[in-house]
Amino acid sequence: MAEASLIFLSLTLLFCHSSASSSGNPILLSSSAHEELRKNGFPIGLLPTNVLDYTLNRTSGDFSVNLGDFCKITLPPDNYLASYSKKITGKIVEGRIAEIDGIRVRAFFKWWSITGIRSSGENLVFEVGMVTAKYPSKNFDESPPCEGQSSSS
Ligand SMILES: *[C@@H]1O[C@H](CO)[C@@H](O)[C@H](O)[C@H]1NC(C)=O
Repeated sequence: MAEASLIFLSLTLLFCHSSASSSGNPILLSSSAHEELRKNGFPIGLLPTNVLDYTLNRTSGDFSVNLGDFCKITLPPDNYLASYSKKITGKIVEGRIAEIDGIRVRAFFKWWSITGIRSSGENLVFEVGMVTAKYPSKNFDESPPCEGQSSSS
């Protein structure tokens, strides 16, 4: 009796496992870094599609994302040019990404480092040092592909 239910349980687990991996969302499977963003209240569009791998310390929130290469993206809605370093590091907790290193935005003829991003209701608040800029989160619902990687900054 006990043996029969154990076999049933194993079959159930096996079935659930295989059906999950065959019908899963490709974005979710290809990068759980994007999924970590979502879990912490952020849209996946903050990271480009080409995430190679990442590490995350769930205790401290310290993360490191490896994009494989330098990457440029045009950010909605004002078409600011953003540059992502090959490696992005920072600290992520629910609703807040701090101590970011590796993301810069071109504005007023200069490159500015984005140091923090906060999730505030429907908006994302980008911190550039002491200055902040607010944009609706829905502009970042989709993960953007990297644009040309050969041009210099
Ligand atoms: C994760 O963070 C905690 C708290 O800062 C630290 O004690 C621990 O050593 C870290 N783990 C790793 C694997 O770096």
